Amino acid sequence: IIYFPSTASLELRNLLTNDSGEYRVEIVSATADQGSTTLEVLADLLENAPVTLRCSSSGSSLTFLWMNGSTEVTASDRVQLTNENKTLNFTSVSRYDQGLYRCHVSNPVSHKISETVNITVNYGPEDTRVSPSKPPYATGSTIILMCSANSRPSPHFTWHVNSTKLPHDGEKLQLMKVTMSNNGNYSCRAFNPKTSVTVESPPVPITVTGESDNMFVSQ
Ligand SMILES: *[C@@H]1O[C@H](CO)[C@@H](O)[C@H](O)[C@H]1NC(C)=O
Ligand SMILES: *[C@@H]1O[C@H](CO)[C@@H](O)[C@H](O)[C@H]1NC(C)=O
Ligand SMILES: *[C@@H]1O[C@H](CO)[C@@H](O)[C@H](O)[C@H]1NC(C)=O
Repeated sequence: IIYFPSTASLELRNLLTNDSGEYRVEIVSATADQGSTTLEVLADLLENAPVTLRCSSSGSSLTFLWMNGSTEVTASDRVQLTNENKTLNFTSVSRYDQGLYRCHVSNPVSHKISETVNITVNYGPEDTRVSPSKPPYATGSTIILMCSANSRPSPHFTWHVNSTKLPHDGEKLQLMKVTMSNNGNYSCRAFNPKTSVTVESPPVPITVTGESDNMFVSQ
């Protein structure tokens, strides 16, 4: 924590979820002043986790509403607004709830907007697949295989031929100057470090056509 006396500001680094709470400042000068703010530190979330956001403010006749980006949050079977809209509760957060949330507080004389809470919902991988460049694959040509998966964050990809791992990692596998020795069933595995889930693609058979196909046999 770094305190800057000239601006009365506080910088917190390497936040942990238990740094959440109410922080108060008292400025002692000719005219004493004070203020407070509530800091909520969110961990990375996994899909289906329960999440609660709370909004607090001082004043009278306050009304609270929550915004998700630029749209107002409304209650649904997964989303509850309770405690006079001060509490936004997800019974089970979904990937589509990813977004920037703010609370708006108003009364007849003023209107305030809270800090933004960035909700990140990690999921997947799902639907891992390999898309190969177009056959036929002639000896000496280059074959490019791309791997994709539906995942947040982006997964780490590894490549396998007949279930043996290749030394090459990454979404693109490029096989240069191929020969029949490259024949095999290729698959990729997508690993999401946040969900710790690995999903393998269906295998894609690659068959390189040999020179012998084009040779004439003379007697
Ligand atoms: C937040 O907004 C996204 C679209 O931007 C929507 O799909 C999602 O359902 C919204 N979630 C809530 C809780 O409002
Ligand atoms: C919200 O968090 C996500 C994931 O951590 C990040 O990619 C995105 O840039 C953040 N958005 C803002 C506006 O901070
Ligand atoms: C690829 O898999 C199919 C079906 O399992 C098998 O018949 C074929 O022999 C395999 N090809 C190679 C080159 O291992």
